[in-house]
Amino acid sequence: MSQLHVIDHPMIQHKLTIMREETTGSKDFKELLNEIALLMGYEVTRDFPLEDVEIKTPMQTMVAKKISGKKVAIVPILRAGLGMVDGLLTLIPVARVGHIGLYRNEETHKPVFYYCKLPKDIQERTVILTDPMLATGGSASDAIDLLKEKGCSNIRLMCLVAAPEGVKAVQERHPDVDIYVAAVDEKLNSDCYILPGLGDAGDRIFGTK
Ligand code: PRP
Ligand code: URA
Repeated sequence: MSQLHVIDHPMIQHKLTIMREETTGSKDFKELLNEIALLMGYEVTRDFPLEDVEIKTPMQTMVAKKISGKKVAIVPILRAGLGMVDGLLTLIPVARVGHIGLYRNEETHKPVFYYCKLPKDIQERTVILTDPMLATGGSASDAIDLLKEKGCSNIRLMCLVAAPEGVKAVQERHPDVDIYVAAVDEKLNSDCYILPGLGDAGDRIFGTK
């Protein structure tokens, strides 16, 4: 069964509270989202294997640790997932970035696919799939389906705020994918928005409302 990691570090909780406030504007919202993505990145990468390497300090040689194993791809779900990419790239500058375009149909609330561009060797990489909002779980589940069709076998889903319904849906459809969130909120409303949530993440990042 996939694990749900709720990252309740005080710095993350504090920044998330500011993001939730309706008076917080686009500039601060974007900056805070990237800062949280960087901080959450520590937990998402916590199990990355290390290897011993011999290096030379200005004083002497020593055996030190470096990350070994698979390379990383960051894959945001457009649009809102883009808001987490720069923060993660600060932590993992060598990561490649792929993009999956999905939007929710306003009436059915089902995801509609419109774009996909991934690194050529995506199947050899650990994938960090980003989307700040996990509502019904439809978008994340479809994006994971697509990544699996491309041969990916090590996928982690990184969100900011989740609804219990979305967590359950992804866990049922993708029991091999761990989910990382900063908060699990109360429920969805009749429009499938998260309550209390933070509103429409894409609109708040890009100022489109
Ligand atoms: C939002 C959000 C997720 C999706 C979550 O995107 O960023 O991708 O909804 O909902 P779900 O879990 O019910 O699928 P939206 O469709 O608003 O598109 P946008 O990012 O382009 O605004
Ligand atoms: N998408 C958002 O941006 N916010 C929600 O609460 C649900 C879906």
